[in-house]
Amino acid sequence: MAVSETLRLQTSAKVNLFLSVLGRRGDGYHELQGIFHTVDLVDDLAAAPTDGDIRVDVESEEGAALLPKLSENLVYRAAMALKEHAGVSGGAELNLTKRIPIGGGLGGGSSNAAGTLLALDRLWELHLEQATLLEMAAQLGSDVPFCLSGAGTSLVAGRGEQLAPLPPPPTLLWFVLGLSDVPLLTPEVYSSLKEDEVGIEQSPAPMTMALAEGDVAEVAALLSNDLEPPAFRLRPELAAKKHALVDAGVLGAGLSGSGPTLFGIVADRQSAERVAGRVGDVFDRVAVVCSTPSCLRFV
Ligand code: C5P
Repeated sequence: MAVSETLRLQTSAKVNLFLSVLGRRGDGYHELQGIFHTVDLVDDLAAAPTDGDIRVDVESEEGAALLPKLSENLVYRAAMALKEHAGVSGGAELNLTKRIPIGGGLGGGSSNAAGTLLALDRLWELHLEQATLLEMAAQLGSDVPFCLSGAGTSLVAGRGEQLAPLPPPPTLLWFVLGLSDVPLLTPEVYSSLKEDEVGIEQSPAPMTMALAEGDVAEVAALLSNDLEPPAFRLRPELAAKKHALVDAGVLGAGLSGSGPTLFGIVADRQSAERVAGRVGDVFDRVAVVCSTPSCLRFV
């Protein structure tokens, strides 16, 4: 049995308001502590049932050059993992329209993978337990469980798969995203961390408290990401671009994930538009976004 109509959902980007790298692990990953927050820069995903294979079609403003080949595409991998796990004989056609930059440090691929699991679980009427879907999500990528969890803001630990959802902040957070057309490879950023940049004692508690109080200025002041030094070494122009955001009047600025996207936090939409106008020449693209309640939304 399968749902016959096309299911459509939006999958959101996320920023890291806090990211502390606690140590290297034996399995090639790093132990993390972080706070993830979803924003309304979204990709559109449509899933329709077919009799045969999994087909994935991706439309991207960035063109074909940056798209991974099919076997590495997270939408395809998520669909195949679910099909094999549940022994589904039918297939699906998945159409993805990308707006979240590929390799931008905004978790776009992870949110696409989470959206695929959720859409196909519904399309194929599998009704899998959330715990099973979360386990599959963790195998697809460290950030996929967060996107699947339904939380818009969460404390994350482990390699990213251990989640403790936080209540949504009482006020929307507004961001200016400074995007780059040239991706950064996450493994390269992690492997460029120096010994003394790992395991620095930091607590997410002050950021958690600032979020709970809706204290935007404090959230902005507390932004921290241990991946900034290695990302800035790999892409030295990012440090100047972060300063440009600060000079343009943001309350605080930081690197999103492993970069190269930079973001600034501002008080409201008007301030965001003003800052975006001032840094338009600094970045390849600029986007004004705000908090979303969750990474995934059926439309
Ligand atoms: O899990 P995911 O496939 O998204 O991770 C991509 C790469 O990022 C990993 O291969 C690893 O090099 C790095 N990574 C890490 N520690 C984490 C998450 C990612 O070292 N917690």
